[in-house]
Amino acid sequence: MTGRVLHTLLIGIAVSGFAFSLPTFASGDRELGQYLSSECVTCHQLSGRFQGIPPIVGWPETSFVQIMNEYRSRKRQNPVMQTIAGKLSPEEIAALAAYFGSLRPQSQ
Ligand code: HEC
Repeated sequence: MTGRVLHTLLIGIAVSGFAFSLPTFASGDRELGQYLSSECVTCHQLSGRFQGIPPIVGWPETSFVQIMNEYRSRKRQNPVMQTIAGKLSPEEIAALAAYFGSLRPQSQ
């Protein structure tokens, strides 16, 4: 009986903890994104120019998140991006989306 109560209690805590963390997933933390972007900009140009690797700045956050999830789920076939996206948490992807989405491509 006690074990059952404890079990229910633990589930309650887990569920409320999950609901609590949802808002941070909805909109990314731009500062965290800037921090995480150092890895990305070794390949992707911050200027938004195309140099063999597609530019990723100035996108709507939802498209950015969707594409990163497609690499994560291996729906998009690119081993490099699959590995990179696979290491990121949803929160980190949202943060990167907020950061890169806030940048404007320079004159092309
Ligand atoms: C080692 C080089 C490299 C690194 C580092 C890298 N990328 Fe990429 N990325 C690529 C290449 C190459 C492609 C094109 C892959 C393809 O054709 O699907 C790409 C594609 C993408 C795309 C899709 C672009 C499009 O127009 O479809 C996004 C979004 C993206 N990367 C985000 C990121 C983010 C965010 C990071 C950092 C966490 C990152 N990349 C780090 C090489 C890299």
